[in-house]
Amino acid sequence: MTTTTETAGLVGAGVDRVDGPAKVTGAARYPADFGFANLAHAVLVQSTVAAGRIRRLATDRAEASPGVLTLITHRNAPRLARAPNGLGIGPPPPLQDDRIVHHGQHIAVVVAESLEEAAAAARLVEADYEPAEPLLDPADPRAEQVENASGRDVSRGDVAAGLAAAEVIVDATYTTPAQTNNPVGLFASTAYWDGELLTVHDSTQGPAFVRAALAAAFEVPESAVRVLAPFVGGAFGAGLRTWPHVVLAALAARVVDRPVKLVLSRAQMFTSIGHRPPTVQRLRVGAMRTGELVALDHEGTEQTAVADDFAESLTRGSAALYDCPNMSGRTWQVRLNVACPTWMRGPGEAPGVFALECALDELAWELRMDPVELRLRNYAEVQPQTGRPWTSKALRACYEQGAERFGWSRRTPEPRSMRNGRMLAGYGMASAYYGYVQVACQARASLGHDGVAFVRSAATDIGPGTYTVMTQVAAAALGLPPDRVRFELGDTAMPPAPLQGGSGLTAALGSAVHNACRQLLHAFVELAAGDAESPLRGCGAQDVVAADGRISVAHAGGPGQGETYAAILARHGLAELSADGASARRRDLDADPGIFAAKFAEVEADPDLGLIRVTRVVAAVDGGRILNAKTAASQIIGGTAGGIGMALLEETLSDPGTGRIANATFGDYLVAVNADVPDVDVIFVGDPDPMNPIGVKGIGEVAIVGVAPAIANAVFHATGRRIRSLPITVEQLL
Ligand code: MOS
Repeated sequence: MTTTTETAGLVGAGVDRVDGPAKVTGAARYPADFGFANLAHAVLVQSTVAAGRIRRLATDRAEASPGVLTLITHRNAPRLARAPNGLGIGPPPPLQDDRIVHHGQHIAVVVAESLEEAAAAARLVEADYEPAEPLLDPADPRAEQVENASGRDVSRGDVAAGLAAAEVIVDATYTTPAQTNNPVGLFASTAYWDGELLTVHDSTQGPAFVRAALAAAFEVPESAVRVLAPFVGGAFGAGLRTWPHVVLAALAARVVDRPVKLVLSRAQMFTSIGHRPPTVQRLRVGAMRTGELVALDHEGTEQTAVADDFAESLTRGSAALYDCPNMSGRTWQVRLNVACPTWMRGPGEAPGVFALECALDELAWELRMDPVELRLRNYAEVQPQTGRPWTSKALRACYEQGAERFGWSRRTPEPRSMRNGRMLAGYGMASAYYGYVQVACQARASLGHDGVAFVRSAATDIGPGTYTVMTQVAAAALGLPPDRVRFELGDTAMPPAPLQGGSGLTAALGSAVHNACRQLLHAFVELAAGDAESPLRGCGAQDVVAADGRISVAHAGGPGQGETYAAILARHGLAELSADGASARRRDLDADPGIFAAKFAEVEADPDLGLIRVTRVVAAVDGGRILNAKTAASQIIGGTAGGIGMALLEETLSDPGTGRIANATFGDYLVAVNADVPDVDVIFVGDPDPMNPIGVKGIGEVAIVGVAPAIANAVFHATGRRIRSLPITVEQLL
C-alpha cells in the first residue's frame, strides 16, 4: 500500500504512534483484559422472537448448573431508571418487563465463576413466548413513521418550481442495506462496586457519557461512577451510546457483589451495539442543459427500533454540497421490531451522499458532461442553506488535485469504452462532505522536575491516533521533545471530554490540550518573571519562546537567554506546576464548518463473470490542518476500506419472517480485507481552519463518505450498468 501526502505547512510530520509498542507487545489493556482474583463472568441470554411477551422462563436448571452465582431476568432484576434522552444515552434499561421488541433482545444474564460455566448455564435457560406478529417490513402499514426525527430536515426555494423549469431531470431511487459496525474488538464491560462506588472498564467512545448513563440507571451521583477506556478495539460509532449490556454488567456486579466481566460474542455484536440502518432514498435532480442545478429533492426512509429514538438525517450532504437554489431534504424513520440502530462511520452522510453522488453521476451522463465539471459548475462558494461563508473550504482543490493524481483526463466518457487487458475498466468519482461540530472539552497539563509533561483528558482513542497527535500538540505548545510528553486519556477521573465521534474530537481535544499547555507555559513564565535570579525576570508570556525544554527570551535573531522548566521548579522548591485548559463549543460563528473531500475510484469488471475489483482509489481531503501525515493517511485508508466494503460487500441480512440476523459471523458478513483494498493515494489539501487555535477540522467520517458512490459510478462507467442498490454484487451485474 503506498500513500503520499503533500502540501508543506498544512501537514504535520508523520510521527509513529506513541501507543504502538504497547499495542503490539500486548501491554495495552483493553476492557476485556482486566482481571481480578474474585472475577465472575456474565453471559447473556437473548430472545429468539422479535415481538411479543415472555410467557414462561424456566431457569431452574440453569440456576442449579455448576458455578452459577446468579441468574437475573425481568422477574428478579432491580428496577433501573431510564436516563433522560441525550447524546450517548442508549436504549431503555434492560430486563424491566416481559415485553420483547426485537430478536436478540437480552432476556437474562447468567453470572458464574467461570466463562464456561456461565455459557453452559445460559444454554439451559428455556423461554416460552406469547409471540406477536413482528413489524419487520418497512412497507408494513402498521409501522409508525416518524417524520424529521433528527430535526435536520431542510428546504430552501421552491423545489416544484425548480423541477418544472428543469430541462433535464434525474429521478431515481437508491437503497442501502443494514450494515454492522463490527469493530474487531468484542465489546466488553468489566464492572465492580466498592460500596456505592461503581467502576467500569468499557468499550466506549465516551467514558463521561457512560458514567452519566450508569449514574442515571442506578440513581447514584455521577461522582460515584468511574468509567475507564484507555484502549478500545475499534468502534466505528458503536461506542457512542451506552448499551444495555453495560448496564447489565454493572447490575450483575452489584447483585453478586464481585467484579463481573461481560464480553459480547460476535453474534451478539450484531444485535447489541447498533448498526447502520437500511435506507431507501429517492433523488430528484433537475438541471438546465448547461449543467446548472435548479432543483434537488432528496427524501429518505430509514429504519429505527420500536423502543428507541435513534434518528439521523440522510440529507445533510444534499443540503450543503451544491449551490442549488431549490432544495428539499427530508428523512423519515420507520419503527420496526429490529435491534436498535446507531451511528456508523459517516452517519447519515455515508448512505445519503451515496444516493446524491450517484444521482449527480446519472445527471452528468444525461447531460454528456464530465462528472467533475458538473460538480464545479455547481460549486457552493458559501454554505448554500445559510448563505454564510464556510470557515474554510478547499473542495475545488480536492477535485483538481485528485483528478490530476488519478489521471481523470484519460477517462473516455462512454461506458464500456475503457479496458485494462481483457477487463472492462471504469473511472468514477464523488464529492464528500461531513458537517461537524466542535464541542466543549477540558484538559490538564502538568510538568515536573524531571522535565516530563503529563497531559490528561477523559477522551478515548478508538484507533485514529489520538494519543499520538495530542502528544504532538502538547509537545509543540510546551516546546518539549515529544518523548518528554505523556498524554493520557480514557478515565472519567480526568477532565471531561466529548465523545470521540462526529469527526469533532481532534478539534475539541486538541484545542483544550493546546490551551492547557499554553496556560502551563504561562504559569512557568509568571513564576520566573517575578524571580530576580531568573534570566526571564520581568518577562510576559508574549516575550518568550519555548523549545527543547527551555523557555527563552524571544529575539528576532533567535532565542536569547533562558532556562529550563526544571530549573524554574528547582529554584522555587516545587515538584511540579499544573494548569487547566479548555475549549468551548463554537456557536457564535459567522461562518459554517464543513469537511470536504473528492474521491476517485477505478474498478475492473470481468466482462464474462461480472466480478468487480477496485484497483485504485485517490482521496483528496480538506480536513483543515493535518497534525500527523501518517496517522491521518491511515485513517483515510481505513475509511476507504470501509467504503469498499459498503460498496461491494457489507450487508446485514435478516430473516424476513423472524427478524433473526442470518449472517452474524465474520464468515458470512463480508468486510473488505487487505486483498480487497488496492493502493489508496491520499492527498491533503486546503488551509488550517480558523475555527480553533490548531487549525483542525477533522477527517474521521469524510474518510468513508463518497467512496461507495465513486465505486458505483465507476461500475457504471466500466459496465454500462447502473446499480442503485448496495452492495453491488455479481448477481446484480450478471
Ligand atoms: Mo463516528 S459514527 O461519530 O464514531
